[in-house]
Amino acid sequence: MEKFIELAKKRGSRRSFTDKPIEKELLISCVEAASLAPSACNSQPWKFTIVTDGAKRKELAELTQDAGFNQWAEKAQAFIVVSEDAHPAVMPKVAERYGEKRFAEGDVGMATAYLLLQAEELGLGACVIGTFVDAKVKRLLGISEADTVRAIIAMGYPADEPRPKKRKSVEEISRII
Ligand SMILES: Cc1cc2nc3c(=O)[nH]c(=O)nc-3n(C[C@H](O)[C@H](O)[C@H](O)COP(=O)(O)O)c2cc1C
Repeated sequence: MEKFIELAKKRGSRRSFTDKPIEKELLISCVEAASLAPSACNSQPWKFTIVTDGAKRKELAELTQDAGFNQWAEKAQAFIVVSEDAHPAVMPKVAERYGEKRFAEGDVGMATAYLLLQAEELGLGACVIGTFVDAKVKRLLGISEADTVRAIIAMGYPADEPRPKKRKSVEEISRII
């Protein structure tokens, strides 16, 4: 096990994959890591659809190209589709005061980050894809119409190196008061 900061620095989006299929246990382990993320009122408003079937993968890869890019996704050996529960189980008082959905997108984002870091830890490559039409993905995968698909994570054994990290400096994004 490496130090967290090292893992975070090492993780980078991968957009090129070998033909080696990903073992199901590894995909499940990524979802388990995601399930450990914090969430408002422990509502855990996330759902994961693991797609390994060849025909479904092909159709899903096509849906990721909605904006005219992401052709590389055709080589992904698996996808994990992250969706958000239509009715996150937050405490009634919290729902009343802030709205039941107020925290869900952030919660799902945190779970996605955990998933990506576990993939890195396991030697898998992954890239989040955000450009797709929600309704088409739900129809293809039988995800409830009421839920929201937040991300499609393309995965495979990496055949490339991550791009060099370009980040705003810590000074630029933070202040101590
Ligand atoms: C919500 C979201 C949507 C993204 N959508 C795409 C996408 O459609 N295609 C793509 O190649 N990368 C996509 N990315 C990956 C980002 O480009 C990438 O995370 C960012 O450039 C930082 O690089 P790094 O992940 O290597 O650190 C997406 C990332 C996020 C978080």
